[in-house]
Amino acid sequence: MSSQLTRRDWLRASGLMTAGLSLSRFAPAEAASTAEQAQSAFTNEFAFTTPPDMPKLRARLFANENPLGIAPSAKEALIKAADIGNRYAWMEFSQLKQLLATDEGVKPENIMMSPGSSDILMAAADHFAKGGGTILTSTMTYDDLLQRAEKFGAKIKAMPMTKDYKFDLPSIKANITPDVKMVYIVNPNNPTGTIIPTAELEAFCREVAPKVPVFIDEAYIDFYEPADRPKLGKLVADGLNVILARTFSKIHGFAGLRLGYAIAQPDMLKTLHAYTNGEFAVSITTLMAGIASYKDKDWQNHCRAENAKARTYTTKALTDMGYEVIPSSANFILFPIRMKTKTFENQMFANGIGIQTREFSGQPYCRVSVGTMEEMVMFMDGFKKVVG
Ligand SMILES: Cc1ncc(COP(=O)(O)O)c(C=O)c1O
Repeated sequence: MSSQLTRRDWLRASGLMTAGLSLSRFAPAEAASTAEQAQSAFTNEFAFTTPPDMPKLRARLFANENPLGIAPSAKEALIKAADIGNRYAWMEFSQLKQLLATDEGVKPENIMMSPGSSDILMAAADHFAKGGGTILTSTMTYDDLLQRAEKFGAKIKAMPMTKDYKFDLPSIKANITPDVKMVYIVNPNNPTGTIIPTAELEAFCREVAPKVPVFIDEAYIDFYEPADRPKLGKLVADGLNVILARTFSKIHGFAGLRLGYAIAQPDMLKTLHAYTNGEFAVSITTLMAGIASYKDKDWQNHCRAENAKARTYTTKALTDMGYEVIPSSANFILFPIRMKTKTFENQMFANGIGIQTREFSGQPYCRVSVGTMEEMVMFMDGFKKVVG
């Protein structure tokens, strides 16, 4: 890592901080490691050693963005808010917090806004890494927080995933030792797209959070059907030390506009706040667009339905070709490929298709974001050409 541009540096330089990348360079904990898993642990510094030529891409499927854009109602609110761009957003923050608090069953003081959820992840990394200690998580997950925590002195202990690519909560629980400062869970997980059964996750939090803070990164939660969506706000309402990180970057399409929030105990938010630039880092234009988008359930339902349609099409097309696709509950799909990552990636780029690759336990994988149906048809055409 040291002789190269680090992933964050590269993302910063290429403007891809919000790209939804996830790596797994952290060694699986010895307790459950195998030689094969250990070999995989350091293979993925960052997938793009040569970034794709962006203007030449016909399908941009590497960053888990919303291909449909922002809601027309959000765009209208954004333009209107330009008229009050000279004002600090005092009341508008409370407006959005009140909306969120009502839906989540918490109080507005349990919510902190931020320009994207990355800021919350970074604040937690900085805080929990202070003075050393361990952050306990899983292999094959989003590692932005983990890399940052490691950089500032934390050890990362990553338990292997279950055979079906899910967080192994019993194994994580069994590895909580006095030096563990925080547990980091991503649900739905990036890059596997898998989810943890809600009852299991809730029981885990109720047992673990009284001892160790549990950070749940819910960047992709909006892709759950509303009826199935986990409602972990109640854990916070019950006083547990659970931190939920949310973003508008995905279903709301705000990756470039930047809006996110944390739900946690007021004391924890106060602590995390000290590591951020404060809520005013969110612009009034983004905030007003966020309020409009949040209220626009029709647009969210439309995006969710289009995503599910294109995801089903791609999953079936790959399965029909004999590929084993990991069932995804998010806006990306991970599946094992039969080519070297670099060769595959370069050939896909050459065909104008932007994707991500990963290698775990010596097995190469493709992670493709779910774009429009048209883009997924392009992806399948390109894929067939590349794999022959
Ligand atoms: C799991 C996960 N968490 C957090 C983020 C950060 O997103 P943002 O900073 O755009 O809210 C991402 C971005 O893709 C992600 O995949």
